[in-house]
Amino acid sequence: MAIRIIREEGDEILKKKSREVEKIDEKILELINDMLETMHKLNGVGLAAVQVGVLKRIVVIDIYEEGVKPYILINPEIIKTKGEQTVEEGCLSFPNKFAKIVRPKEVVVRALNEKGEKIEIKAKDLLAQAICHEVDHLNGEVFIDKIIPGTLEIVNNE
Ligand code: NI
Repeated sequence: MAIRIIREEGDEILKKKSREVEKIDEKILELINDMLETMHKLNGVGLAAVQVGVLKRIVVIDIYEEGVKPYILINPEIIKTKGEQTVEEGCLSFPNKFAKIVRPKEVVVRALNEKGEKIEIKAKDLLAQAICHEVDHLNGEVFIDKIIPGTLEIVNNE
């Protein structure tokens, strides 16, 4: 396992569309483990493979709920959305930027897990938000382009 370098704002790769995973091999599993380790190290809620420079349709999500394991979604597809929520959002690729955004309140997503099994997740609230944010990354879309105007906050750590 290894911590990977996060691609940040200004890196053109973030605007590229990721490709479907055709075979879940050792290299993919290693990538997934590295993504989990990198996300956890940075206290992130989600991470898409493109954010570590790999244009493959893989995301990991952890909403840090007691007893809930991180989600690993390969080739995820949002098949249903319902309602709306206005939420605060950030992104590991935009480490100092936070803003309000409108996301669906509920989603249903289909994907493969790391064993290649088909899974379907019904998500709401933070998990729904995270799924939408990460699937956007796979399509070359970043949250900053969708925020509610006037809500951007730039946070300096010093
Ligand atoms: Ni992000």
